[in-house]
Amino acid sequence: MSNRAPSLLPFPLASVRLALVACVALSLAACSSDSRSVTHAAVAYCRDHDVREVDDRIDEVLAGLSLEEKANLMRGTFPLPRQGAWQASMLPAKGFPGFHMLDGPRGVSRLGGATGTAFPVGMARGATWDTELEAEVGEAIALELRARGADTLLAPTVNLLQHPLWGRAQETYGEDSFHVGALGTAFVEGAQEHVLCVVKHFAVNNIENTRLEVDVTVSERALREVFLPHFQRIVTEANVAGVMTAYNSVNGEYCSQNDHLLKDILRGEWNFAGVVMSDWLWGTHETVPAIEAGLDLEMPTAEIYGAALVAAVEAGDVREAQLDTALRRILRAQYCYSLDTEPAVLDDDAVETPATLALAQRVAEESIVLLKNDGALPIQRAAGLDIVLVGPLADVENIGDQGSSAVLPTDVVTALEGLMAAAAPATLTYVDGDLSDTEDQMTVSSADVVIVVVGLDTNSEGEGNIAAGDRSSLALPAEHADLLDTATELSDNVVVVLEGGSVLDVGPFVDSVEAMIMAWYPGSQGGHAIARVLFGEVNPSGRLPMAWPAALADLPVFDSVSTEVTQGLFHGQRHLDRAGVQARYPLGYGLSYSTFVYDSLTLEDTQLSPDGTIVANVVVRNTSDVIGTEVVQLYVRAPGEVVERAVRDLRAFARVEIPAGGTRTVELRVSVASLAYYDEAAADWALEPGTYSVDVGANAMDLTHTSTFMLTN
Ligand code: BGC
Repeated sequence: MSNRAPSLLPFPLASVRLALVACVALSLAACSSDSRSVTHAAVAYCRDHDVREVDDRIDEVLAGLSLEEKANLMRGTFPLPRQGAWQASMLPAKGFPGFHMLDGPRGVSRLGGATGTAFPVGMARGATWDTELEAEVGEAIALELRARGADTLLAPTVNLLQHPLWGRAQETYGEDSFHVGALGTAFVEGAQEHVLCVVKHFAVNNIENTRLEVDVTVSERALREVFLPHFQRIVTEANVAGVMTAYNSVNGEYCSQNDHLLKDILRGEWNFAGVVMSDWLWGTHETVPAIEAGLDLEMPTAEIYGAALVAAVEAGDVREAQLDTALRRILRAQYCYSLDTEPAVLDDDAVETPATLALAQRVAEESIVLLKNDGALPIQRAAGLDIVLVGPLADVENIGDQGSSAVLPTDVVTALEGLMAAAAPATLTYVDGDLSDTEDQMTVSSADVVIVVVGLDTNSEGEGNIAAGDRSSLALPAEHADLLDTATELSDNVVVVLEGGSVLDVGPFVDSVEAMIMAWYPGSQGGHAIARVLFGEVNPSGRLPMAWPAALADLPVFDSVSTEVTQGLFHGQRHLDRAGVQARYPLGYGLSYSTFVYDSLTLEDTQLSPDGTIVANVVVRNTSDVIGTEVVQLYVRAPGEVVERAVRDLRAFARVEIPAGGTRTVELRVSVASLAYYDEAAADWALEPGTYSVDVGANAMDLTHTSTFMLTN
């Protein structure tokens, strides 16, 4: 076999070709690369607006602005939200409606001062592996955002979970770029029906404690293959309206002024036509490098733009035309999303409606992962069954971080409330405290089932600088671990409900308990969802969006102290696979009350060319007597003879509901182009010819069927 990798048509070239096609189709005279030009990306970005008309209008608006006005329109107005939202400068009389922004990733931010539906956090939604549902969540959050008077949603957070100790783990969807890209794209497509989305934080932002100053060294290949593909998909497929730069620096340059990330890749290769804004307060550094790189908007106030930008123009360091370029992108976003003609309208009745609360509950139900079940679940609620509930999180409104993603729902259904409401005809007794009391111990030891709710909360993990920051261990907080120990000494029928944003070390107790679910931060209806899963009204279908290692030492070191770190091609499941170490629970793992058997895998073609598509048909059977949902996963193994590749990569998945005793055939498609690696020497994507394996199954370590295909030129 030849060692020479055939160059695939590089993705950036493909986009340029599309742009040219659009230019021809539109019979445009000028199709150069200046910001006025109409590219395919700009046409798509502008949705049902004619981008030429929009640009004509922008020309007129810009002609009527002074230098001071221009520089001031490239900044936010105030360090805190005003009138319910963060505001970018506006000048309605001169055609600048401005942006009215609110976080966030799990619902409308409480920082606007108002209530909103608290959806399960991003990581919980990652565990649903349900892109259609995620589009519904995006749309529901967008509608509430508008009803709160805002038009720009600071979400989704799609930084990879490079390590489970990351404080903001809960905000993103998981560790895998393909999976994160699928969910992030769905969220944006749903939300942008009603608002602009700002995807964040671009890029390689996955440590909290040093987030403002850490410089992440990352190879070009790791950047392209691991840390950026999901951003690219959200830009090119979902046409996201805005991109927020990260606080950290990458390869020696802060993200808000990083030429390579912003100019070469985001604008140059992905043809991003939208607005680039900074992260908040500490996110900008120097005027000239920032505008040179393409930072359009400084938020939430002026450090480097505004007066400093005027001074830079007057000193001859910045051309006024550069301000026009940035303002064109800002205005294009505002006009293409009709912010001038359809401003958001306050509407209290459109927030926390029965429909959004029902959606939040459904998402929580789909997100719960059954980690272990020796038969204790589902709990059969017979009259006379004596259930006891304990644990520091049982009676807590545990819906996630109190950083920028925090949401203020009117009510939160705790685990206690949800279980209490659903336990009849069984009896449920809640025992508060640490079980040191003898009477409490007797209550627990005489129970038929003991449910223990433990895990993480807002004191254990969260956003840096404003909340708890990174974790230093995967262990349960000590008092939770002690209580669980006591419970397992007193009862041999313990069911554990775990909560938190990512991996917990279950090693110390997993063998002493009968069943265990991961409920994440389940949102305002979480208590109902937990009850419905434990009592069997919902058959668990969540699957882990990251590998759970057996020990922290099995993962790469997480350094949240140094201001210089290096990140590479392998983390999470890919790291474990490479090291030949078994995960305790692999990527994609999750049990069900049903049992599934994979009957067959058939590839439509066993010979494919670089522009081909793998079409895999997978037959899955539900061998149980309960209807259930399986998440069918497809991983690809590349030959790996030219450069080292991951042992396998997730490349497709599908949720499928299968009736009791029923069979389903699931079709999964993967474009061959997506199997390319980044050839650093050629600065281009390349596909290795040879034999590729396609593995399918229930999770990254349970891939029961394999087929191969030959990739030729
Ligand atoms: C966070 C962003 C957030 C912004 C505004 C920053 O601290 O990093 O994710 O959008 O605050 O709340």
